[in-house]
Amino acid sequence: MVDRITVVGAGHVGETQALRLAEMNVAREVVLVDILEGIPQGKALDLYESGPVVGFDTRVIGTNGYAETKNSDIVVITAGIPRKPGMSRDDLLATNAGIVRNVAAEVKKASPKAIVVVVSNPLDVMTYVAKEATGFPANRVFGMAGVLDTARFRTFIAEKVGVSVEDIQALVLGGHGDTMVPLVSYTTISGIPLTQFLDKQTIDALIDRTRKGGAEIVAYLKEGSAYYAPSAAVAQMVEAIVHDKKRILPCAAWMEGQYGIRDTYLGVPCKLGRGGVEEIIEVELTDEEQAALEKSAQHVRGTIEDLKKLM
Ligand code: NAI
Repeated sequence: MVDRITVVGAGHVGETQALRLAEMNVAREVVLVDILEGIPQGKALDLYESGPVVGFDTRVIGTNGYAETKNSDIVVITAGIPRKPGMSRDDLLATNAGIVRNVAAEVKKASPKAIVVVVSNPLDVMTYVAKEATGFPANRVFGMAGVLDTARFRTFIAEKVGVSVEDIQALVLGGHGDTMVPLVSYTTISGIPLTQFLDKQTIDALIDRTRKGGAEIVAYLKEGSAYYAPSAAVAQMVEAIVHDKKRILPCAAWMEGQYGIRDTYLGVPCKLGRGGVEEIIEVELTDEEQAALEKSAQHVRGTIEDLKKLM
């Protein structure tokens, strides 16, 4: 257990995040921060009062400032606007960059030793913004996307094959967006390659649905985007960090030459422990997968350049 985890942004993702973390008993205190007056306080109090029934002792606090977040061990940044139908994640660039930069500067002051997990979109670029604004080492600033994308892929596979989601292992790399790279060669059902269960055409259709998984939900909701699966994905990452599990999970990590790629954030398998991203695991890729990963990196880098022009 750690002392304090802060969740910035008390919207759909943030409030669900605080709920999951409180129920998991991973921290003595969960602090929910938002700029909207009364909202984080009200949601946090309501959540705190569920403790006696659900059975957790986590203290949950809501606030509009950062005094209460002091010396957080982990900070999850969910502040920012979500997309509307027809919007791409990149359309959120300018607005969310301003928000994430401000939030990250506050985090740096209040919690200089924190591990920062970014959720705000466009994910890979917002993680870059958070790294720049905090100046924290790259192992302590990374983003959540791959666990969610992988969870979506696993859900669709389980449904199609008619087996438990628990038995499906999958790996989705690349940026969080249309250029994500699901790796079929590393996708298995209890160790048995997926290709022994489904033909190429069916697998391609599941990959396509995974790529558009976020948009499918946005189209239904009209206002707002997904939050149950995203908050579950972050919770899994936080659990790996708190318990120093050394889990191998796909995260948006700062690339320093791994896979021949540098100077960008990109979704790759990472070893997650108390040190944050303790290692980036380099798996063998086919030429096609490597090319897709490089294309994805180029896209993220291009968006980082767009952002620099806007500022
Ligand atoms: P939401 O609109 O429900 O909540 C966002 C919250 O951020 C609002 O309560 C707003 O008041 C708050 N906020 C804005 N500026 C702030 C600031 N400077 N400081 C503190 N709080 C601030 O949005 P939702 O659905 O919670 O999504 C949040 C972000 O997460 C979006 O950018 C969305 O695209 C992204 N997202 C990313 C996912 C991923 O896989 N990485 C998955 C789902 C959402």
